[in-house]
Formats: sequence, C-alpha cells, structure tokens
Amino acid sequence: MSDKSLEKKIRKLLANISVPNDGNLADYAGLSEIIITKKAIALAIEISPQLDKEFMAVRKEAQEAIEAVAKGRKVMVSLTSNEPKQQANPAQTSAPKRSAINKQPVAGIKKIITIASGKGGVGKSTCSVNLALALKASGLKVGLLDADLYGPSIPKLLKLEGKPASREDGNFIAFDAYGIKAMSIGPMVEADKAVVWRGPMATSALRQLLRETDWGELDVLVIDLPPGTGDIQISLSQQVEIDGAVIVSTPQDLALIDAKKAISMFSMLDIKILGIVENMSYFVAPDTGNRYDIFGHGGAKIAAQEMDLDFLGEVPLVMNIREKSDAGEPVVATEPNSEEAKAFINIANKLIKNLAL
Ligand SMILES: Nc1ncnc2c1ncn2[C@@H]1O[C@H](COP(=O)(O)OP(=O)(O)OP(=O)(O)O)[C@@H](O)[C@H]1O
Ligand SMILES: [Mg+2]
Repeated sequence: MSDKSLEKKIRKLLANISVPNDGNLADYAGLSEIIITKKAIALAIEISPQLDKEFMAVRKEAQEAIEAVAKGRKVMVSLTSNEPKQQANPAQTSAPKRSAINKQPVAGIKKIITIASGKGGVGKSTCSVNLALALKASGLKVGLLDADLYGPSIPKLLKLEGKPASREDGNFIAFDAYGIKAMSIGPMVEADKAVVWRGPMATSALRQLLRETDWGELDVLVIDLPPGTGDIQISLSQQVEIDGAVIVSTPQDLALIDAKKAISMFSMLDIKILGIVENMSYFVAPDTGNRYDIFGHGGAKIAAQEMDLDFLGEVPLVMNIREKSDAGEPVVATEPNSEEAKAFINIANKLIKNLAL
C-alpha cells in the first residue's frame, strides 16, 4: 500500500473517533500532519491543557486504530499543548491544515540540523546561537532559524531589532548578526499580537520562514526548536530533509528522561541523532573559578553511552553565558577565547566531522 493510500485509510479511521466538544478527529483543527515512514507513523494532537484527561482516551483510541493498519510500523500519537491558553482563532480552522508529504530541499542550503530537547529551559537556544557562531568561526556559511514560535528567543540572543526586511518579491531578507544569517518569527509576532500561532498556523508560519527567506548560499542551517515532541518537530521533519538533530540536556535524571523521549521521536521520524550535549554540566564559581559538580554531572554522557549515541561535549553553567546571552552578545562571538566559548567550539568541531561539513 502506498503512503498516500495508507494515510487515507488512517484518516477514515480517525473520522470515527470523536473529539470532546468538537466533531471527529479527522476534521479536528489541532490534528497535525500524518507522517508515514518505513518504520513509523506519527502524528500530534494539539489540545487545550484543560482537556488533557478527555484527550487521553482520544489518543489511546487513535493509537489503537492506527496500530491495526500499521503493518509493524511503530505508532506514535502524541498530545501537545502550548501555553498561553488562548482561544483558537476561528480563521485558522479553515486554513489548509494538511499537505502531501513532500520534502523539498531549500534552495541554497546544503545541510540542515536541529537543536532539540525533551524538557524546556535546558539551553537549546543558547546552544543554537553559540554553535552556529562556532561553525561560522571555522569558515562555514551559517544560518540560524528560530522555530520556537511559542517562545522565540533568538532576537534577544542576537539583538535582532525590528521586523525583517522584505525583497520586492515578498521574500524575507535574513538578519545579519555576527556574520550569520538569522530569522525568527519573534519580530513578526510582536508586531501582530492578535495572531494566534498554533496548530496549522504555526506549521504554515514555519514553512514560510524556512522557504520564503533569502538565505543566500549556506553550508548549514541551524534550527532552534521549541522543547518537547510536538507538532512543530513533526511538521518540520515532514517539510524538509533534516541532516541530524543535536539533543541538549542538563545532567539531571528528569531532563534525561525527557531527552530520551525526544531521541526516540527523532529516530521514529528517521532523523539521525548527531549526539547529546550536556549543558549546565557543572558550575564554575564566578569569583574563584572553582568547579562544582552539583548537578550530578556526567549523566548525559552515561545516557549517550547507553543509547549508543555520540556524546558531543559539556557546557559549564557559567554566569557569563547568561549575562552575555541576555545582552545579545553571545560568548562565542564576543569572548571566543573564554573557557565557555571553547566548550561550544569543541562541540561544533565534532559536528563538522559528523556531518562532513
Ligand atoms: N551553560 C549555561 N550557563 C549559564 N546559563 C545558561 C547556560 N545555558 C543556558 N543558560 C541560561 O538558561 C536560560 C534558559 O536557556 P535557553 O533559553 O537557551 O533554554 P531553552 O532550552 O532554549 O529554553 P526553551 O525551552 O524555553 O526554549 C537562559 O536564561 C540562559 O541564559
Ligand atoms: Mg529556546
């Protein structure tokens, strides 16, 4: 059976599943695209956080229905919800919400990598910016795309100001920051707070940012993802070939458990894991420079070994990283000889090798 006819069959099955207060699952606006690969079938259902109990049953029903036709593929149906809890914009339910699985390369871009994590706040954006800058420092042409539509932080980290300029044909011109090309939904969301960026709208906003930006020629585009395993991750993997994902985790068990979930999602989506970075690995006191392993340092390295993945390196918890990030002056660009910048540069060097950049 072709992927198309399997997808059709799945949609028919989803049409028999009712959604709390809202018709059936096949027509539900929060249903992501359905991804079908050789090994897996994956989809996400966006819900409002208040309804998670009701949707657990919907998730289970969908999972079982799809498993019955999956022919040995792993099935992953996940629920996702995104704060702030806002009313869905009625206009978005009529927006085109699905398109055929049709991965098209982005003109001019040679490789695309994503920076991901299971848990929020572990330092993805910090790593994205500093790794992108470290790749650039080694002579590569680098772009950075902020795909965290719900909490864009690249504008602050790179001090991007104002809306991106547009060319005559309507395509965006990427910002130039410390020698890398950067794009973020941030400046546009601020300009129009009425827009509710979620579900299908988020997917099409991301498609637009990726494809309707004049990136020029890039050796590598780094994409900063929102945390978790939601529809942005799934729809991105469907839109374009991803050459690999870097997983960022802190050393604590809880973050590592979430990191493992993200890893299993990427492997189901047939995306190569380039390795794990342990961020906030150990604490370096700003006054004495002494190092303290207060977070169970080394957890990510052990987890990487257990999962047979590359361990890419450790980034210390250093006040300077936070202060410089807050000021829009990332350490790799502004203090390239500092220990913390060197940590990012070492990781970037491993990526260059892994990706044959
Ligand atoms: N190694 C580090 N040392 C000190 N502070 C850090 C370090 N890494 C990240 N931070 C700080 O931790 C906070 C969270 O980092 P960041 O925004 O990069 O995480 P994130 O994983 O992208 O979060 P989100 O899930 O919200 O997107 C920021 O204030 C950042 O400056
Ligand atoms: Mg972030």
